[in-house]
Amino acid sequence: MNLEEIRQEIEEFITDSAEELEQFRQKYLSKKGTLSQFFDQLRTLTADDRKEFGQKINTLKNNALQKFEQLKTEIENRCVGQTSDIDLTAPANVAQMGARHPVSVVKKQICDVFAKIGFTIAQGPEIEDDWHNFEALNFAPDHPARDMQDTFFIDTEPDIALRTHTSSIQVRIMEQNQPPIRVVCPGRVFRNETITARSHCIFHQIEGLYIDKNVSFADMKQTLLYFAQQMFGSHIRIRLRPSYFPFTEPSAEMDISCDICKGEGCVLCKKSGWVEILGCGMVDPNVLSNCGIDPNIYSGFAFGMGIERITQQLYKTKDIRLFFENDVRFLQQFAAI
Ligand code: PHE
Repeated sequence: MNLEEIRQEIEEFITDSAEELEQFRQKYLSKKGTLSQFFDQLRTLTADDRKEFGQKINTLKNNALQKFEQLKTEIENRCVGQTSDIDLTAPANVAQMGARHPVSVVKKQICDVFAKIGFTIAQGPEIEDDWHNFEALNFAPDHPARDMQDTFFIDTEPDIALRTHTSSIQVRIMEQNQPPIRVVCPGRVFRNETITARSHCIFHQIEGLYIDKNVSFADMKQTLLYFAQQMFGSHIRIRLRPSYFPFTEPSAEMDISCDICKGEGCVLCKKSGWVEILGCGMVDPNVLSNCGIDPNIYSGFAFGMGIERITQQLYKTKDIRLFFENDVRFLQQFAAI
């Protein structure tokens, strides 16, 4: 090996292994190494040659020493915390903040609106017996809603099922309290329905119940108008259409004026200018007496709405399935609320 080859080898040498670095040290820097042999040759040269040759091998030795020190530091650093592999200037991974689910956000908004006018909040079990979900609510034994199509039964004889509406909580409240009763009951409900963009087998409702002496249909209408305007804006109008529920008489469905087309008629309101948001009515006297409240003294109204439906109306979401898929890209849009 001549000096030029050695110079090149030292210059090009690279390693991240401590073992290979030690071999390098022995080869160029130890007493028995390649360079030492050249130093031995110095004695045999003339004074002039010796000076020139001596300088060359000294430079090589210094190069080798420098290389050795540099690689040694790099290898040591890598062992302690791997700093040489880490780019300290790279942006940090920002921890993602969680956010409340839009259904929870809107549930709270609805409860807050009713809390302001004296309603308290109550909950009830998701697994119900036939009495609380159907019978006390005046469902005739052959009512279609009792059909297996709509209800997820857990047991029969006696019938135990996942509640199909939050009206079951209404029964429990009346059984346990005497009027005045002013309560809203949010909760998850279950129906054996095909999952589509418009309906789901699991969704959320809020039930409202107000019972006292002389409670009238007009009280109900004003309460619901107040709710609609608090929720959707003071320009919102409501209309009540006659309907049927076994537990209310008379019964109605409430529409609000469509906020998208301002009543002109658009795709979302199916060109009608109105959007249905809840069912309501005066509590049937049979239901009051079923629950231990004297219908000759007291009257009251009840209403029930789907929280997803209200959320969809507020945030213009077209597909109810989005609320149950937990796609972060969808949920993140509600993080600022
Ligand atoms: N329970 C009814 C439903 O699930 C809604 C409702 C509640 C209607 C209270 C009238 C009074 O559709």
